[in-house]
Amino acid sequence: MKLLKFRQATFADVVSLSELIRRTIRVSNSKDYDQKSIDLLCAIFEPEPVTERIEKELILLSFAGTRLVGTVGLKGDYLRSLFVEPVYQGQGFGRVLTTRIEEEARKNAMPEIMVHSSLTAQEFYSALGYNFVELQSYPEGPFVLMRKPLQ
Ligand SMILES: CC(C)(COP(=O)(O)OP(=O)(O)OC[C@H]1O[C@@H](n2cnc3c(N)ncnc32)[C@H](O)[C@@H]1OP(=O)(O)O)[C@@H](O)C(=O)NCCC(=O)NCCS
Repeated sequence: MKLLKFRQATFADVVSLSELIRRTIRVSNSKDYDQKSIDLLCAIFEPEPVTERIEKELILLSFAGTRLVGTVGLKGDYLRSLFVEPVYQGQGFGRVLTTRIEEEARKNAMPEIMVHSSLTAQEFYSALGYNFVELQSYPEGPFVLMRKPLQ
């Protein structure tokens, strides 16, 4: 695996972060969601709502060299918005990002961490110790609520 560097997202990252997420949704999630869902999901990650997220939650970015390759967020006890650039998937980057954000949740003394997993990522989260809670329906499509105890 290439050496990853991490830092917190700032307002200067809004455009590149929004592009990474929307590109990943279109490439990686379209096998599990219809076009209407993909368009709604992409709208959630336009630059303006991404700016609001940076104001309100912890968002980490990972870089391979100078290239932005992934992101993950933490809001309360929810892991949010985990995305790995499609050409960098399957190399352990998603696992490293998830571990980093779980560490942040532990620092905040959270007994567990939750995620609204995409259908695409459900097996990924299972591999990392997350348990199925329930299937949930949103205007953007079905998501899977999952939970992992943090010892
Ligand atoms: C889900 C996602 C973040 C995973 O990132 P990744 O870098 O490809 O995952 P990793 O390479 O770190 O995989 C970690 C483990 O999960 C397993 N895994 C990953 N995707 C999997 C899948 N679809 N099915 C089964 N196992 C999977 C890997 O085999 C690996 O196991 P190992 O360490 O024992 O070999 C990435 O695929 C992605 O961005 N998907 C699209 C966006 C998305 O749906 N994000 C989730 C929003 S809630």
